Amino acid sequence: MPDETLHLPLILSVLEREKDTPGALLPILHAIQEGLGYIPDAAVPEIAHALNLSQAEVRGVISFYHDFRTTPPARHILRLCHAESCQSMGGAQLAAQLREHLGLDDHGTTADGQVSLRPVYCLGACACSPALELDGQLHARLTPEGLRELVNRCLEDGTC
Ligand code: FES
Repeated sequence: MPDETLHLPLILSVLEREKDTPGALLPILHAIQEGLGYIPDAAVPEIAHALNLSQAEVRGVISFYHDFRTTPPARHILRLCHAESCQSMGGAQLAAQLREHLGLDDHGTTADGQVSLRPVYCLGACACSPALELDGQLHARLTPEGLRELVNRCLEDGTC
């Protein structure tokens, strides 16, 4: 676990910049996540104090939005499309295969921090369904074999 006190300068500078903005909580959370890759626990009391909220209120907002992370990001982010076109082309089976292969749920991260799953609802590649995005790169017309190879490359040598 990283020493979260090292993140305080960034957190405090975001708070100083954004705290008086109307509806500041979401912009603050986004800015901290953009700067650090996640929202460390040490940020919660600082945010609560700056915005005159309870820590429970801040944690409630963080947990409500799946895009907010409370742990450092994995080395690879794999976003499998769960929307209609991909579902009709075998996406549900690929999702089940992926969950079983990695032993994760749809928002999980492998214990070694190598891969995180993040479901997404349309990548704009419906004509090439089923599709996923791995570290920002689109992989379309996925097959079970292609998905297995892709995930194995991520797990084995970290290069996908
Ligand atoms: S539905 Fe999957 S890319 Fe559009």
